[in-house]
Amino acid sequence: MNRMFHVLHYDTIGSTNDEARRLAAEGANHGTVVHADEQKSGRGRLSRAWYSPPGNLYLSILLRLDLPPARCAEISFIAAVALADTVEQLLPKTTEIVVKWPNDVLVGGGKIAGILLESADGVVVVGIGLNVLHAPSTAGYLTATLAGSGGIATVDGARDLLLAAFDAYLQTWQQQGFQPIRDAWLARTYAVGTVLRVGVQGHSVEGSFAGLDLDGALLLETSDGPRRVVAGDVAAAG
Ligand code: BTN
Repeated sequence: MNRMFHVLHYDTIGSTNDEARRLAAEGANHGTVVHADEQKSGRGRLSRAWYSPPGNLYLSILLRLDLPPARCAEISFIAAVALADTVEQLLPKTTEIVVKWPNDVLVGGGKIAGILLESADGVVVVGIGLNVLHAPSTAGYLTATLAGSGGIATVDGARDLLLAAFDAYLQTWQQQGFQPIRDAWLARTYAVGTVLRVGVQGHSVEGSFAGLDLDGALLLETSDGPRRVVAGDVAAAG
């Protein structure tokens, strides 16, 4: 087990993020991890539900960082590259693994993992869901699982790999800042020039991918000129 983390394991829980926030309010330490076999009210980004039957990985990492709110998003990129490395270690060598802005991990075009970052009062909770055995088929986007992509993985094995990778990237970030995380993320995302359609505040913006800004904002080249997107959802790439 990783030295930095203290893992609390639950069979069934509402949401590991909610439990991590509750524990934080009670004074739980930096590095506390809430891991549950099943969530009854798992939450995703943009107020979506997160499908959480037994057989997948659901965990939340509690971090106490002296970080201005504007830099919190950097942590979700740490989680994304750690997840991508974990998935890579568990799948056949030739598998296509892509990180999608802001922080999804796709395998063969299907979403295999998601990250829900929440922060308040100096605490950052990094919620991570990884599809090991199951994925919803009705979510409106393609999904993938480790098992269905030729992977051999247990939930606990995936958790331990993920925590080790997260710890390594967190240390790199603490020592060297966001730049190496940004580079690792860029090495795993779309090629520059890929056309993206992004949902931004209820409307759709289309442009070609031009990189990631120094603060994690998505950079697009649109027909109206360059555009920075700080919050949104990439709907399509092609
Ligand atoms: C997304 O919408 O892509 C983010 C999904 C995040 C799901 C994880 S599962 C563990 C943690 N607890 C939750 O309720 N949500 C996150």
